[in-house]
Amino acid sequence: MNVAELLGLPDLDGDLDRVDVALRAAVATEDAFLGEVGVHLIRAGGKRFRPALVLAAGAACGSAGTDEVVQGGVACELMHLGSLYHDDVMDDADTRRGVPSANAKWGNLVAIVAGDFLLGKASEIATDLGGDVSRVLARTLVRMCEGQVLELQTAFSVQRTEDQYLRSIAGKTAALMSAACRIGGLVAGATAEQVAGLTAFGDAFGSTFQVYDDIADLVRTEEQLGKPAGHDLVEGVYTLAVLHALADGEVGPELHDLLGGPIDSAGRDKALGLVRSTDAVAKAIACGRRLADEAAASLEPLPNTPVRQALATLGHRLLGAVE
Ligand code: IPE
Ligand code: IPE
Ligand code: MG
Ligand code: MG
Repeated sequence: MNVAELLGLPDLDGDLDRVDVALRAAVATEDAFLGEVGVHLIRAGGKRFRPALVLAAGAACGSAGTDEVVQGGVACELMHLGSLYHDDVMDDADTRRGVPSANAKWGNLVAIVAGDFLLGKASEIATDLGGDVSRVLARTLVRMCEGQVLELQTAFSVQRTEDQYLRSIAGKTAALMSAACRIGGLVAGATAEQVAGLTAFGDAFGSTFQVYDDIADLVRTEEQLGKPAGHDLVEGVYTLAVLHALADGEVGPELHDLLGGPIDSAGRDKALGLVRSTDAVAKAIACGRRLADEAAASLEPLPNTPVRQALATLGHRLLGAVE
């Protein structure tokens, strides 16, 4: 998935190349080993969704491709990367971005320290962009931790509610997407009303994005994902479609019996089959589409430009890919 293509903004590619150069420079460090671990997932690729949001938000407010916007993108991607190193330890994931995860390659201890290193680099860059940006990122890290902890608290719970799910993804994923959009607006010198609109957009779009990612985990193969498929079920993270399937009159009882504790790969495949046999995925997509509409409506304070229009349809285009 190419995010510039998805946004329909071909100019974005050149600015994303600048983000990449700056990302590598940001993690270059005297300790060759730490530098190697830190650059591992940068080198592996990734969609660069968060820098793209910073760039698009900046462009939507009349500051396309300035150095501040590029550095804002770098700070957000570094925070994302740090959270991925930690997330893969928590989820015991052995692949990420199509390559071995840092924990699989170097062990949990190294992956945790490297994650901290990346988070530290993110705050360093944010500080250079000023107190407002730095405050946004600090607050974001707090919200991400809150979202992850909420997820841990309902792990393996077949009683998990839709509300608990939505609150968790608002923290673990939407907070950073929202920060990316807010930072784009802030460094572009947008009005308070525009910054608020971008922030609300990022929150709603970020949740759409996680709904999409969670559906992809249920309907795609490991090869397509570049990370394990059906892994959320194995980890006891029962996402929106699974919650709908658990409530289904037909397959619900059987799914209840299967889930609620550790499962092997046969159990995972059986559970995946049950979820897919219902309208649970369609219901989750419908929820994602409501969030995508909310995101689009939040952009109202921005000037009506092609960038704004591209952002407004982003959530729906993403969900179209798993429908
Ligand atoms: C992965 O994010 C973590 C989630 C919030 C689902 P991305 O899907 O943006 O991962 P990369 O950056 O493309 O690898
Ligand atoms: C994203 O959640 C967590 C982060 C914010 C890092 P997931 O656990 O669903 O992400 P993936 O599926 O591993 O990319
Ligand atoms: Mg994970
Ligand atoms: Mg996932």
